[in-house]
Amino acid sequence: MCGIVGFTGKKNAAPFLLEGLEKLEYRGYDSAGIAVLAENGIKTKKTVERIKTLKEKTDNGAQLCGTIGIGHTRWATHGAPSEENAHPHLSPDAKFAVVHNGIIENYLELKEELAAEGVSFKSETDTEVVPCLLEKYYEGDFFEAVTKAVARLEGSYALGIICTDCPDTLIAVRKFSPLIIGVSKEANYIASDVTAIVSQTKEVIYIDDGEIAVLSPEGVSFFDKDKNPLQKQISVVNWDINAAEKGGYEHFMMKEIMEQPRSVEQTVESRIHGREIIFENLKLDEGKLRHIDKIDIVACGSAYHAGVVGKYVFEELLRIPTLVDLASEYRYRNPLANSKTLTVIISQSGETADTLAALKEAKRKGAHTLSIVNVVGSSIAKESDDVIYTWAGPEIAVATTKGYSTQVAVLYLFAIWAARILKSSDEEYIESLFDSLRELPENIQKILDNSEDIKALAEKCGDPHSLFFIGRNIDYAVSLEASLKLKEISYIHSEAYAAGELKHGTISLIEEGRTVIALACYEKLFDKLLSNIKEVKARGANIIACVTEGHSAVLSEANDVIFIPQTHPLLTASLEVIPFQLYSYYVSLFKGCDIDKPRNLAKSVTVE
Ligand code: F6R
Repeated sequence: MCGIVGFTGKKNAAPFLLEGLEKLEYRGYDSAGIAVLAENGIKTKKTVERIKTLKEKTDNGAQLCGTIGIGHTRWATHGAPSEENAHPHLSPDAKFAVVHNGIIENYLELKEELAAEGVSFKSETDTEVVPCLLEKYYEGDFFEAVTKAVARLEGSYALGIICTDCPDTLIAVRKFSPLIIGVSKEANYIASDVTAIVSQTKEVIYIDDGEIAVLSPEGVSFFDKDKNPLQKQISVVNWDINAAEKGGYEHFMMKEIMEQPRSVEQTVESRIHGREIIFENLKLDEGKLRHIDKIDIVACGSAYHAGVVGKYVFEELLRIPTLVDLASEYRYRNPLANSKTLTVIISQSGETADTLAALKEAKRKGAHTLSIVNVVGSSIAKESDDVIYTWAGPEIAVATTKGYSTQVAVLYLFAIWAARILKSSDEEYIESLFDSLRELPENIQKILDNSEDIKALAEKCGDPHSLFFIGRNIDYAVSLEASLKLKEISYIHSEAYAAGELKHGTISLIEEGRTVIALACYEKLFDKLLSNIKEVKARGANIIACVTEGHSAVLSEANDVIFIPQTHPLLTASLEVIPFQLYSYYVSLFKGCDIDKPRNLAKSVTVE
């Protein structure tokens, strides 16, 4: 999804902009550009290729001289990927340059108005109306022109703007799109997220919706939409650039897979004091929790799959009806929610547009909202009544791994915390889940230590044309995620089925040699799953089974078997997903796919 960087300082801006854009590549983009204010006006350079090309075109930025500038990676929405549509966009008089993330919903109306006044547009984008409005409202005061232009915009935007008449001043505005400010003695920065600037400064300021930041090399001032000055707090980022770089791995995805024991440990252990689970600053206290009669879990993609695990765990432990819904469906279906509803919102980025909209809908209905988010200060974190952070660190690969694992870990932790308060489940059962949860990092590590076996399996299975994942209960929840992981990075068609559904249609697709991956770790339903394995085997399927150690009955049925360590029956989800992250990675590697940046996908989906 689009990424923004901006710089105002004493040194040349372009090298910082290019480095920042490179750090934002992980968000997904199809074109990019930078604009620098040089002595004789604003100079831009754009590309429909990678940032590497932009670096080559500008001699690593040396060709664009100027100490203030803005940069952008674009993920096309309005208009095809092209240099004309790539940002930054200039006003017709070339006095203003603008980068934008989000969608200006009333851009057609504004375009019509401006066109009637004689403006001709160079791009098909919604963004271009912004520099044109700035030119229209400019009467010698940059800040004033920005406030007037922004007042005309409907939709979502994070904007970075420079003006030839104010050679030091960079103005940033945000509404429903991510944007942060980085501060340092040498320079000040804007960026879509911390990754872009963490190598320069760890001091950041989160700007809220409707706020305006005015940056110069000397400092940053903040204003609300009515131009009243604001005092903002500086936060210090607690991870460094090494955490956002590959650390010796060929791909971010593998680095992040390998980080999971540490990420899960950090997420779980930071909430455990003795045997007590404490979530800091949680407004959902015992009284409120007792009042809850329904839980809605809402998310997109893998975060939704984590939510499916959550549904099984919550219903089992809390005995509270739990619905899990896709945010894009939830937001438009007039959901049934009220003050007795707990809406759990899950999002790694904290910026997913549909998830954010669903959160707002739940709030509007009076539900108590609790978000499980990885990015501190993100829009979803800020909008929710409560937030529990997953301490996964920055996730760069487009396909989530540690993000998903830490989300599931938080769901377990929360379920144990709530079940202890509500006494809704057998005490011994809850406490053994608690103990097993603490052993999770060690058990994940055991699976990772055997990654060569999974690599060999991936090599042996090659490039199946199409395959099926089957499972029941928690195994089914994991099969959804395993299937998505495989298809998104290896482009192999795969489907996840609740194993009991096979007979209701899908089994007609099982034929000689069809690969079926059977997840059979959920103890209570192992025998049922074994019957499903026999059914597909009888029709010629090539079976890969995943079971917990000791379930050797499967050896005579499956062509290949993956064993995961024994754990609490409810906790298997956290373990059995790991071999399939590895499997997907290796299949994709052998196929030569772009593992970290799969085609057509973006890391942070900030438009619907
Ligand atoms: C798949 C993947 C996506 C995200 C989804 C939601 O590997 O990463 O399906 O899970 O786009 O993103 P977040 O969690 O940032 O809201």
